[in-house]
Amino acid sequence: MKVIVVENYDEVSQEASQLVEEKVKGNGELVLGLATGSTPLGLYENLIDGHKTRNISYENVKTINLDEYLGLEKTHPASYNAFMYETLFKHVDVNLDQTYIPNGVPESAEEECARYEEVIDSIGPVGLQILGIGTNGHIGFNEPGTDPESLTHVVELNASTREDNARFFDSLDEVPTHAITMGIKSILKSEQIILMASGKSKADAIKTLLDSKENVNPDFPASYLWTHNDVTLIVDKDAYSQV
Ligand code: PGA
Repeated sequence: MKVIVVENYDEVSQEASQLVEEKVKGNGELVLGLATGSTPLGLYENLIDGHKTRNISYENVKTINLDEYLGLEKTHPASYNAFMYETLFKHVDVNLDQTYIPNGVPESAEEECARYEEVIDSIGPVGLQILGIGTNGHIGFNEPGTDPESLTHVVELNASTREDNARFFDSLDEVPTHAITMGIKSILKSEQIILMASGKSKADAIKTLLDSKENVNPDFPASYLWTHNDVTLIVDKDAYSQV
């Protein structure tokens, strides 16, 4: 794992966007794995800026997201479908038919998981996957205890994850209890992974991650990133402060 420590959130976003833009410029048909949450917002702003001011085109890029809440329609403002549209897709020239996010209201969640894994395999491999990290070490919605061999599956969200994400909803009660997420194995199929972390709230998770190299274990799902050969952690000083 390559570790890049920078001053602050803006620099985390800057480093990540440079890596993404280099990839897109090198391969216009890149499959780009995307994440939601607060961490990638600055990255997406920079990518929008790069599209508008430096003509970086996403016309032939395919994007695939990690996860979606079960029970939220695409149109629900807190759905990850809506998040991606509002924060990135509507501002760049990506072809919406080439953006993939699980369906949060499938007839059969199990069938949707199988379908999504097939999408990953048919458009993939993901050339570059963006990840954030949960305070409990989750990647995607792979909560502690997740099987490292997991493919796309339904998860019950931990109380801490629901509390962390309640800020996107009117109340904690409205945060869905379940989600569909790429599994750990699905994520590790990516050719290259960038894990972004910023702020003191992530400091314990980053310390645990960096201490877990010799102790990869399901209690801390992000530890499985040590089994991949091309991971770059971009972290600011606050998130690195416990290391
Ligand atoms: P955050 O979430 O970017 O909103 O902190 C990260 C995650 O839960 O993966």
